[in-house]
Amino acid sequence: MSLVNTNSRYLHPNSTQLCKELADVMPKRLCKFFVVSSGSEAIDLSLRLARLHSGHKHVISLTQAYHGTTTAAVEVSHEKIDKFKPHLKKEDWVTIVDNPDTVNGKHTTSAGYLSDLEAELRQLNGKFAAFIMESIVSVGGGVIPPKGYMGEAFKMVRAAGGVCIADETQIGLGRTGNWWSFEYDGHPDAIPDILVIGKQLGNGFPVSLVATTEEIIQSLERTHIECVLPPPKHAPFMHRLLVLISCVLQVLLDVWRLRCRLRCRADHG
Ligand SMILES: Cc1ncc(COP(=O)(O)O)c(C=O)c1O
Repeated sequence: MSLVNTNSRYLHPNSTQLCKELADVMPKRLCKFFVVSSGSEAIDLSLRLARLHSGHKHVISLTQAYHGTTTAAVEVSHEKIDKFKPHLKKEDWVTIVDNPDTVNGKHTTSAGYLSDLEAELRQLNGKFAAFIMESIVSVGGGVIPPKGYMGEAFKMVRAAGGVCIADETQIGLGRTGNWWSFEYDGHPDAIPDILVIGKQLGNGFPVSLVATTEEIIQSLERTHIECVLPPPKHAPFMHRLLVLISCVLQVLLDVWRLRCRLRCRADHG
């Protein structure tokens, strides 16, 4: 008689079904998914994926940004670093550039903010992992970036070797009218390499998601780092929960679809 490990890691078809449903409403290149528990955990994972893909640690984020409460997430959250100084300090591996606020910020056009970003990219000389931004700043003050900023910024970041992360924990999945808030940017390069969604996914249930590309997953697979893959720390709880609430999630997806269809009808008369 031999020993058999029957640990299923909480595999369940409902998680796959949920990801399939989400794939239908995502840009095609975002075709790989990680289901986790919280937005903070998803941000943490997105940074880890970007680092594995790029081979670098450094991250560029924006002033006014809030990305969550795990150690890594809070360290890229200028809103918290600023609020809780001197207890929170900006880490050496973080560069903060100005949020493109053309109403109350330092420039009145996208171009000024883009040239600031370009200068930082030149300084980093390819030695960075990611650029992270919310497609619309939520916690930090409801700031809508000027049209085209996101696409142009992502284009520059990719040309410099970095991964582009859009945090839509608060503002994705139909919450602002479009399925995804990066769509408002109108630039073809505004589609991120990693998209994080959270709160609206579970409407109160602790479910979040990281969507990414085939290329980034290939980088992950080359490293054979198992601990990046679900179930991460909190996921066993979430996976059991996901099995229970999958019916609710299916209903929510139908509601989101309806909401987006109604919005489109209203926009087009
Ligand atoms: C933009 C953004 N990112 C990340 C998070 C963190 O999400 P969670 O509270 O689920 O950890 C939040 C939470 O408010 C958020 O607003």
